[in-house]
Amino acid sequence: MSSDLALPIADEALAGRLRDRMAVVEDALVGHVQSRATFVTAAASHLMEAGGKRFRPLLVLLAAETGDCADSEEVITAACVVELTHLASLYHDDVMDEADLRRGAVSANARWDNHVAILTGDFLFSKSSELTAELGAEAVRIQAQTFTRLVEGQIMETVAPGPGEDALAHYLDVVAGKTGSLLATSALYGARFGGATPQIEKALTSYGEIVGSAFQLSDDILDIASESDESGKTPGTDLREGVPTLPVLMARASTDPADARLLELLAVDLGDDDLHAEALDLLRKHPAMDEARAYVVARAAEAKALLEALPEGPVRTALESFADVVAVRST
Ligand code: FPP
Ligand code: MG
Repeated sequence: MSSDLALPIADEALAGRLRDRMAVVEDALVGHVQSRATFVTAAASHLMEAGGKRFRPLLVLLAAETGDCADSEEVITAACVVELTHLASLYHDDVMDEADLRRGAVSANARWDNHVAILTGDFLFSKSSELTAELGAEAVRIQAQTFTRLVEGQIMETVAPGPGEDALAHYLDVVAGKTGSLLATSALYGARFGGATPQIEKALTSYGEIVGSAFQLSDDILDIASESDESGKTPGTDLREGVPTLPVLMARASTDPADARLLELLAVDLGDDDLHAEALDLLRKHPAMDEARAYVVARAAEAKALLEALPEGPVRTALESFADVVAVRST
């Protein structure tokens, strides 16, 4: 078992290769966040140094293992591209969420201010784009399309569903855009630059999209269920921001009279600390939490079914675990 990868991998040889390559990625990332301005380097290193699970680069490295050149330079570059893009989006996301904590550290907007956080996100995104250029025009096109989907997803989250639009469908569309897209690209880049067949590349891209959505859904469940010392973030952020996530949407469907107070709270502004704490408490105890968890497990099963396009073996097993870990994660 590997202890330092955010994934249990039983096959020691595979775990060893991934650990070695992840160490190369970590070193390369430190180089990529350097600026000629010391302050910019400090701001850009802040969240990277705070930790993180590195799920996206890990998916690149794992997907590359399905091809015949998993240890190519381009695979490492692609792994850096997706982590830098993700990091960039976190700086912007914390500004939008007015978050104080990220990865157990003070968020950039709280430590400095919104301007610094936004421009640091821009800096990281431009570094990631510069690096993508090394992978060729097609990779740049894929990254640009991913960026479009990330931004659209993030903006759509702030907009209520249109008239006649189903609230759950709207939310799932948001989730696919803001998180599914980058995991899909991670799997696609890994397969492409690792030299996988077009059939495997297609299966892994769809797998990444679903695993990414499952990842975001479980993140949204954790936003309600976990304490900040577990998640490294402030709990109940979505609720406070008025973003209805899966457990809220499921609870809202309840017709049980015992849920009257919760439904009343879910319909009002939860900016007030007492109302927010009451809603969070009622929601944590509600069966909608388990219903939401079961939905995520079903999505992970859907993703795993796509892996039948891959030959059986340690890589496929590790990708199956990746889907499981994402679905039932606790941090
Ligand atoms: C986290 O959501 C946010 C994302 C996964 C995507 C954010 C995308 C953008 C801000 C647009 C893209 C910007 C750049 C520079 C690439 P969350 O608030 O639900 O999750 P959290 O619990 O991790 O805060
Ligand atoms: Mg957030």
